Amino acid sequence: MDENPPLVVVVDFGAQYAQLIARRVREANVYSEIVPYQITAAELAERAPAGIILSGGPKSVNVEGAPLVDHAIFDLGVPILGICYGAQLCAHQLGGEVDRSGRGEYGRTDIAVQSADGLLMGMSDGQDVWMSHFDAIVAPPAGATVIASSPEAPVAAFEDPVRAVYGVQFHPEVAHTPNGQRVIENFLYKACGLPPSWTMPNVIERSVEQIRTQVGDRRAICGLSGGVDSAVAAALVHKAIGPQLTCVFVDTGLMRLDEGEQVVETFQRNQGIELVHMRVADRFFAGLKGVIDPEAKRKVIGELFIRVFEEAASGLEDAEFLVQGTLYPDVIESGTPDAAKIKSHHNVGGLPEDMEFSLVEPLRALFKDEVRTVGSELGLPDEIVWRQPFPGPGLGVRIIGEVTPEKVATLQLADAIVRDEIAKADLEREIWQGFAVLPDIRSVGVMGDERTYGHPIIIRAVTSDDAMTADWARLPHDLLERMSSRIINEVTGVNRVAYDITSKPPGTIEWE
Ligand code: XMP
Repeated sequence: MDENPPLVVVVDFGAQYAQLIARRVREANVYSEIVPYQITAAELAERAPAGIILSGGPKSVNVEGAPLVDHAIFDLGVPILGICYGAQLCAHQLGGEVDRSGRGEYGRTDIAVQSADGLLMGMSDGQDVWMSHFDAIVAPPAGATVIASSPEAPVAAFEDPVRAVYGVQFHPEVAHTPNGQRVIENFLYKACGLPPSWTMPNVIERSVEQIRTQVGDRRAICGLSGGVDSAVAAALVHKAIGPQLTCVFVDTGLMRLDEGEQVVETFQRNQGIELVHMRVADRFFAGLKGVIDPEAKRKVIGELFIRVFEEAASGLEDAEFLVQGTLYPDVIESGTPDAAKIKSHHNVGGLPEDMEFSLVEPLRALFKDEVRTVGSELGLPDEIVWRQPFPGPGLGVRIIGEVTPEKVATLQLADAIVRDEIAKADLEREIWQGFAVLPDIRSVGVMGDERTYGHPIIIRAVTSDDAMTADWARLPHDLLERMSSRIINEVTGVNRVAYDITSKPPGTIEWE
């Protein structure tokens, strides 16, 4: 298999759509990466892309300081597709004209297709597309032909097959453009001549080869949390190096119901991965005794985690590599270079300063949904692959006030009911997270003829794309009712259930 798959770069002009474009290209089974618009033609040429897509952006090409691309990019001989601002930029930099005279178009728009041979192949006249522009291209780049127009965009699409420059004023990457994916595929398969060969089985095969080359006959360790990213990273590395990988599972006692057992079952018994299972709940409860402040709790949990991980790792002195489940969005956001050595960070609280490992990050190029596909291909069960995000400090930050084993047991049962009912209602993939919180208050109730004075449980369920913002999930009332009645009947000491209807912001998803 080749070293690297053919690459299509998405040049990012600060649009919210750049990631979406990259994902659409990948859905067409072509590998894509995002690069900042400041990239020079020489830097781009080094990466030998097979195609270049210029994204949309918030600026006007006619204002002072508008972001441009290095003009030499147009002379690389690599096919270029401009989308929205990207298309305007092609016109602006290649002898066409962009004007601000019109009214702009926002939302669903009908375009007249004048030529359906090239970029718009297979498209009938009168296409629904999604527009979002104020400026309009009034003359395409010199030598290009207008292939579609709309009432406010005389040049809604253009192409120059000789120079291999293409542009669309509309957004083919959004779902509101029904044939948008077709436009992207026409560019990739026809203009760039690429095969749809970037598939998850190929990704796995290539990744396995790369890990083998990197690690050789040495040893690697991986901290497992039960979360999808570390799980898939571990399974992939195990496929590559087998018994040279040891996983460390720090069982804090703050996991969800039966989660510890499930991690052991999945990785040790089913996948045959060597697992060091650190059963250290007692140490965590001792450390958390009397601790109420949320930040103090996080600190106690984080530090203990590090200490335990260190103990486990010291028994594996010859391990030189640390496997981490870093994903592509983390790489884009942090702008991290391809790091080799690290001194940080686990999702719980950071690894010890003095532990030096080389990193193995087999998921660095993948989006979350692609990681899930890889996980399924590697035989991980749905419960792991579709597991909802879970904070490093675990139930410790979902118990308000002091954390005790009794409170954890109560919360685990209530939380399992919430998740079970969400799964039965088939809403698991629609909501981002759904869980229970145990606050540090009690209230009066009546059960049978008896007065009760028990704990409430708060149900928290949110929808979100990335956890940066979130909305409370509009769960059906009958589902909430089932959760409430089961929690009160099945969980001793709970006499009231409330539903949290706070979005983020102003709330956070977790309570602490
Ligand atoms: P908040 O509560 O800040 O959470 O809205 C955003 C997302 O991050 C998760 N979360 C954590 N994940 N370590 C993690 O790995 C943590 O310490 C942590 N705290 C919150 C939270 O579950 C949500 O998905």
